Amino acid sequence: MARKIDLACQGAADKLPQAVARILCEQGSDAVLLTPEQCKGNDQCYTRHLLYADPAGRYTVVAIVWSPGQQTPVHAHYTWCAYRVFSGSLEEDRYQWDAGHACAHHGATVARVAGQTGFGHAGMDQIHRLRNTSAHPAISIHVYGVDAARVSTHVNRLAPEAHESQREAELA
Ligand SMILES: [Fe+2]
Repeated sequence: MARKIDLACQGAADKLPQAVARILCEQGSDAVLLTPEQCKGNDQCYTRHLLYADPAGRYTVVAIVWSPGQQTPVHAHYTWCAYRVFSGSLEEDRYQWDAGHACAHHGATVARVAGQTGFGHAGMDQIHRLRNTSAHPAISIHVYGVDAARVSTHVNRLAPEAHESQREAELA
């Protein structure tokens, strides 16, 4: 899989997230062999396990283990990303950025079941929240366009969610 992502990195930068999502889709779950350790979550927060660090620092592959009820904050990204749900199911809430009020408005919620992929570019045009609303653990495989040393600090760009009162005021 890494060799295919390496090749994709040599292509057009604006097509890279979609290309990597396609690779994750084509490879299937069989291409990713997780050790028992890499399938472990914890009760406090969703858990990241490093699967592969590109030696050139162009991207990092991680597994994220989601216990029931765990979720990300609402966020955009500092970098491109692509993911595939490996096992279980997630929900993805999508938001629109309101630059005037510096907050994100919820738009839609889509189911993300095992085998489905998603991708995004850096910037406030693509804001989302992933969460496990099921009663079972879920695992997703993510590729981020940063080196491994920055994968926990330079991926998520938090986006404050609009409060209900603010939404109602704007609709009035
Ligand atoms: Fe994200």
